Amino acid sequence: MMKTICIAGLKGGIGKTTTTTTLAYLLQAEKEKRVLLIDADCQANATMTYDVETSDDGIADIMSYALKGDTPEIKSHIVTTDYGVDIVPSSPGLQVVNGRLQVEKEHSQIDVLKRALSEIENEYDYCIIDCGLQLDITVLNAICASNLVLSPHKIGGFEEQGSDVLDEILIQLSNTDIGENISLRRFVTLFRKNKTMCNFLLATQEKYDSTLMPSYVRESVQVIKNSMMSGPLPYNFKNCIAVKDYRQLLDDVLEVMA
Ligand SMILES: Nc1ncnc2c1ncn2[C@@H]1O[C@H](COP(=O)(O)OP(=O)(O)OP(=O)(O)O)[C@@H](O)[C@H]1O
Ligand SMILES: [Mg+2]
Repeated sequence: MMKTICIAGLKGGIGKTTTTTTLAYLLQAEKEKRVLLIDADCQANATMTYDVETSDDGIADIMSYALKGDTPEIKSHIVTTDYGVDIVPSSPGLQVVNGRLQVEKEHSQIDVLKRALSEIENEYDYCIIDCGLQLDITVLNAICASNLVLSPHKIGGFEEQGSDVLDEILIQLSNTDIGENISLRRFVTLFRKNKTMCNFLLATQEKYDSTLMPSYVRESVQVIKNSMMSGPLPYNFKNCIAVKDYRQLLDDVLEVMA
């Protein structure tokens, strides 16, 4: 049965999209898994990385089923890409749907994506979801549809605040039927290996204890270069340090999910 991981964090620019697009590609290309990527962020950066050009509103259309109270339909929103990973794209229109969902609350909204994914649970091994930086209704749906919430952690005080808020939200969700089986793991990314950062890493490990993954992802200039190119990072830079680190992270994630 398909396993779902959402990459979430309530802070901008901490590597959510880089992680989503990289892990999805590595799972498909190096672990031979059938992978569906869902872009749940209205910025649509994962959609751009995978070079998807479509007039389909993807996740926005799926979420809008909550407005009608219908059973969500996902298959017609899945697009194949040149990189072996299938994707449900996003678009700026998702912001409009999220706004409408804030005010028109006639039907159950929290489990739209979970219900949509149950339709394809035998067609993929993994579903990887890229979340936006705000806790909007689509991101809450992504969290509730997931077995694992994987949260990139950039070392710094402001980033820790976002990380702690995510903790609180997951604790609240764990008291509900829909959120009782979701686990949270963090990993440090955008890491620079020097004495000061190593000391901060030790403090971070102490604070977050068993929710922090042992592997971390180093800062790498190829990630920035890749953001100006077509295709996911490991497709263009197979052996850059960030990809090497993401391979280790993936092995650790698969162990957590086993
Ligand atoms: N390991 C890394 N090394 C160097 N640069 C990185 C690394 N990871 C991410 N970046 C860069 O940091 C910026 C933010 O990354 P990314 O877009 O993945 O973050 P995000 O959390 O998805 O952002 P947003 O909140 O806007 O969705 C990008 O310019 C990206 O290229
Ligand atoms: Mg992003």
